[in-house]
Amino acid sequence: MELAAQGVVPLGGGTRLLASAREVPNLLDLVGLGLSTVQVEDEDLVIGATTTLQDLVESPLVYPATAGLLPLACRTAAASRTIRGMATLAGEAVQGDPDGEVAAALLVLNAVFVVAHPQEPRESPALRFLRDPSADLEGGGVVQTVMIPGAPHGAALERAAALPSLPPLMSVAVTTTFSGERLSRVRLAVTGLEGRPARIIEAEAHVERTAGDDEVLREAAECVAREGRFREDARASADQRRKLATVLTLRALRSAVERGKRREPAQVPRLRSPTSRRAAAPLPYFTSGRLELKVNGRKLRAEAEARTTLLDLLRGTGIFGAKSGCGAGRCGACTVLLDGRPVASCMTLAVRAQGQTVLTIEGLGTSERPHLLQKVFADAGAVQCGFCTPALVLGARALLDAVPDPTEEEVREALTGLCRCTGYAKPTAAVIEAASRRGR
Ligand code: FES
Ligand code: FES
Repeated sequence: MELAAQGVVPLGGGTRLLASAREVPNLLDLVGLGLSTVQVEDEDLVIGATTTLQDLVESPLVYPATAGLLPLACRTAAASRTIRGMATLAGEAVQGDPDGEVAAALLVLNAVFVVAHPQEPRESPALRFLRDPSADLEGGGVVQTVMIPGAPHGAALERAAALPSLPPLMSVAVTTTFSGERLSRVRLAVTGLEGRPARIIEAEAHVERTAGDDEVLREAAECVAREGRFREDARASADQRRKLATVLTLRALRSAVERGKRREPAQVPRLRSPTSRRAAAPLPYFTSGRLELKVNGRKLRAEAEARTTLLDLLRGTGIFGAKSGCGAGRCGACTVLLDGRPVASCMTLAVRAQGQTVLTIEGLGTSERPHLLQKVFADAGAVQCGFCTPALVLGARALLDAVPDPTEEEVREALTGLCRCTGYAKPTAAVIEAASRRGR
């Protein structure tokens, strides 16, 4: 906090830092603070501020403690797996898209933010913190942990977006808790409002202490449409959002009530074993200097500044297999494996690769001796424009290392966001073929 007060740039996930035009003369890597943990303490789920969204998707503790809702919200809020492997929970809550599903999920999970301050830590319920995070962080505060008390029995998240990968026009998160046959607690939050996501308390009260019959749920959905102050912008009118709210709220309430009755968590697409554990911070503080890493089995030394990306460092030393596409973490064409984990190298600072192992497509195989994955991609014609093929092959390699016998759903999950030509059918078939050939 003292360093931050002196103007040192804190680095969490880094996804917003690199997307901004901010000057980065130096970096203080917050991952070194050991706040990337998930624990259960006295029946509360305690999540460190720098835990990544992907770690939350994969954590065996988070899933039951949130009736599946927080993993589902993280999975939905960031369509790219590589970005989820970097973006942190605190970053998403503080700087995330105002329509982000993670904030809506934290609201209905009654999360509490623990904010470290120079004097003493403060606790702020999500209802207050998310309304204006800057108010609680004023005076040099840093989010330390997010606590989620007692698991709800059911949860649901519904959204409407122009494309699955785009921010929602409108989304609704609901949690339900039963006492016997009746709902003892209902939490309902919506995005797409004027301002940040908010709970609609009148609708919650309408359903609480009832058995959740359909008529009551319909009235609650109408209540949301009536009480919500929906946003009017270029993407949708307030009226369109209001109509969407009625439909999505009813759907979310029905699912959360049904799941709550059956004590069944929301379903989240994920792999059986994670591929995305982030390494500890190699250099806690960095301004500029020489980095040393292992790329494709060879030692590489290169000069870097605080803001140099891994992509620029690789391409600057003649390794062109990682492609420069959007430069903003959206297309996946720059994907490489950092210690076996797929990362968007355009959004990964070079300093985070210090002392680590990087694999690019050049290290996988050659034209004369292609790797099995390269061979099956070629045989299956799993290439359209070809720009993303290195990324798809490396994504597949990380998958097969973690899950040698993936299902089709797992292959699709692992490859999501790595190709912008769409048409994942042939790459998916190629990866399944590679897995079956390896297993023979
Ligand atoms: Fe890195 Fe597009 S995601 S270039
Ligand atoms: Fe064209 Fe994937 S981006 S084949």
